[in-house]
Amino acid sequence: MSNSPIQARRLQALTENINHVNENSAYTNLTQEQINSYYQNGFVILRNAFTPEEVKNMYDPIIKAYEEHDYEASPAYDRPKHIGYGPRITGAQPDKYLYPKPGNFPMSSRMMDRDPTIVPRSCEHPLVVNSCETLLNDRAILSQYQIYCRTPGANGTGKASEETQGFGSHYDYKPWRPVGSFLNWMFAIIPLVDYSKEVGPLLLSPGSHLKSRILDTHDDRIHLVETGCLPEASAINLVDGELKAGDLCLMNGFTWHEAWPNRSNITRIGLYLKFHGEHSPPATGPLIHPKTALKHANRYSHIFANNFRDDNKFSAIVDFHDGGCAPSNVIDRVSIVLENANDQKILCVKGKHLLPEIDANETRQYTNRQRNALQYLDAGNVIDTILMHLVEEIEVEMPYVSWICDEKKKDAFGNIILNRIYAYRITTEEEHVINENLSKDNSKYEWIDTNDLTNEYVKKVSYMWINSVNEKNEKVLRSAGFSHPKHNKMLATTYNGPGNPIDKYVCGIRLGVNKGIQPPPIKMKRQGKSKL
Ligand SMILES: [Fe+2]
Repeated sequence: MSNSPIQARRLQALTENINHVNENSAYTNLTQEQINSYYQNGFVILRNAFTPEEVKNMYDPIIKAYEEHDYEASPAYDRPKHIGYGPRITGAQPDKYLYPKPGNFPMSSRMMDRDPTIVPRSCEHPLVVNSCETLLNDRAILSQYQIYCRTPGANGTGKASEETQGFGSHYDYKPWRPVGSFLNWMFAIIPLVDYSKEVGPLLLSPGSHLKSRILDTHDDRIHLVETGCLPEASAINLVDGELKAGDLCLMNGFTWHEAWPNRSNITRIGLYLKFHGEHSPPATGPLIHPKTALKHANRYSHIFANNFRDDNKFSAIVDFHDGGCAPSNVIDRVSIVLENANDQKILCVKGKHLLPEIDANETRQYTNRQRNALQYLDAGNVIDTILMHLVEEIEVEMPYVSWICDEKKKDAFGNIILNRIYAYRITTEEEHVINENLSKDNSKYEWIDTNDLTNEYVKKVSYMWINSVNEKNEKVLRSAGFSHPKHNKMLATTYNGPGNPIDKYVCGIRLGVNKGIQPPPIKMKRQGKSKL
């Protein structure tokens, strides 16, 4: 792959653990010392970044939403152990398990839909956007708009507490999640109350982001990550960020962290925004924001990219008809650019030059139990749908794919449709199996040379994939996105949670046709589970 000098520099910076300093930035509110601190430690905290009035202007509409029970329908997590889990129950049993019972009640970008005036006060605040763009060395795109609300009595992450420090340590590179499948990404955390020892501090592990490393491509398309594996809890170096209302904590996405229980009588509320560099797209596809958010976005509306729908449907966890909960339906169709091993041919529907495509059916990817445990952070990953379709059609299950773009179109009835497009370059061994299938009389597919593609959209997305560019024809770094139901089960709280016997694991090494990926290290003994 030929890289422009800028892209080569970006890749080098990422490969060297994102320790590059942005000396060419046109404007930044950060001092050189703060920038250096971020690259060395994996985080930097700007004290009193927001005035008390600015904090109040975020806190008031948020607490109102909680009081009106307008938050995610997913079960509150980090509940005290004796309470157990189950979906939020409203309607006939409105008081079953709602705020402010003990637990962490997440609320997502629905807050921007409820009250879009919060947009310029939070995710589009110049301090937030400029800081993130400086540290990402790229234009910042908003990935998640999350609010965590830990009521009195809520547990910390995993089993973390003052007595069990390190047990809830984790980091958020979770490439089965739309918000965890980037190479260049970070948190902007805005505590809206003081995170005292009693309320529940956020602890961070200085320099831990340097344990993970982005690898060069193995297939000229995808960059895997050599993940740093957390050791046993007692060996993890953590410091209390001593965050106070109005501080701004800027944290690298690979930085290890944990939160402690809320043992106070104050509700612990903070904004947990994730941004990624425009040239490091989410491998599982982005969360979809409410278009309402754009109403008051007047300075940096580019942070929303193209991640919204004209009908204002957005990613959330909503009540499901069986009494449980499910991701809102924002992805209608899913298709794939499947490239052959050696000569840039694309798998197309025979005689039509169209990609394999199917209804998304996100909720059907999961068992009821899995579906009821999903968070807003999981919404919109429809990889399993297209992979299972390919297994039926060509008898090969791809180990992972990477998101290319979302195609917005209208169906025959004039309804807005969002078609999520992924891509994958097969191995020679996979091609052998697929070609056996294509040689059958009833095969629906054929390989088409990219030069012979007739459908303009198929031609465009194939070009984007093969040339590693985005819709603006700018170079991007793509990474591996995994099926959620299979890989959440296989990988969650493994390499990125405490108790590993080794310190490196490459996430995504292929084992052979239909054999998946190399499994993660087996824990020395099971330690805390991480939920954030
Ligand atoms: Fe986290």
